[in-house]
Amino acid sequence: MVREASWSDARAASTGARREGTAATMSARDVRLGFGSVTVMEDITVDLPPGSITALVGPSGSGKTTFLRSLNRMNDKVRSFWREGEILLDGREIHGRDVDPLVLRRRVGMVFQRPNPFPMSIQDNVVAGVRAHRMARRSAMRDIAETRLAEVGLWSAVADRLDDSPFRLSGGQQQLLCLARALAVEPEVLLLDEPTSSLDPRSTEAVEELVRRLTPGITVVVVTHNLAQARRLSDNTVLFYQGRLVESGPTSQLFDRPSRPETARYLGGDADPAVLA
Ligand SMILES: Nc1ncnc2c1ncn2[C@@H]1O[C@H](COP(=O)(O)OP(=O)(O)O)[C@@H](O)[C@H]1O
Ligand SMILES: [Mg+2]
Repeated sequence: MVREASWSDARAASTGARREGTAATMSARDVRLGFGSVTVMEDITVDLPPGSITALVGPSGSGKTTFLRSLNRMNDKVRSFWREGEILLDGREIHGRDVDPLVLRRRVGMVFQRPNPFPMSIQDNVVAGVRAHRMARRSAMRDIAETRLAEVGLWSAVADRLDDSPFRLSGGQQQLLCLARALAVEPEVLLLDEPTSSLDPRSTEAVEELVRRLTPGITVVVVTHNLAQARRLSDNTVLFYQGRLVESGPTSQLFDRPSRPETARYLGGDADPAVLA
């Protein structure tokens, strides 16, 4: 059983604003993004409401990943990357002088398309961020690992191998481990880039179920090329095409009563990018 103490320890040591159950709003205002001389996205204005699941959809190469990665400044690591316009977390510019990108990435966590466990034990993977941000005492780490592994449904599978390497886990289990690691630092926003694209249907279902359970405590933004997944999982959908936002709104509206003919054609199952040209 998880003792109550592990939570209070983690909370007491946490310097961040978040307590469990606070989800943040993210907004983009007139955003342009690019690499070197190439503009990848332009004219992007969109709100990602707190506690909701927003799906980013669109053909391959439309800029979904670039946009997602700009929400927690992951693109800062790419030398040729540039940005114009504002990106706001609860109304505050994430590029502000007072913002430490590491603290931002604790508040706005990310899970990548391919599972990327660190080369350390399963338990150390889960608590890697907790440790880096000094969010809890050393003595609390095991309980935090158990709590987070249980939260993602992995506890029974790994309870007796916490000290083992994560690389012998299945792909789906590795992705759940990465989700546990992302959740352990109690983010307000979770960015998921095609989190189930390398998973089998059962693991996909497990991840979708988890994402649903996380809201409304957390704001989720999920890139998916799987339109059926966007439809069954998200509250809101944003359609990108060739670096522009075509339409955004409640998922049922985009799929059933889209305002733009391009949306109807793309979400209607004809995913040939030519229909949008
Ligand atoms: N690091 C980078 N340097 C230069 N161009 C990039 C980089 N990352 C992505 N791009 C370009 O940005 C465009 C959008 O890519 P991406 O955001 O990955 O689209 P999506 O995720 O929708 O498939 C593509 O033309 C891609 O080649
Ligand atoms: Mg992508």
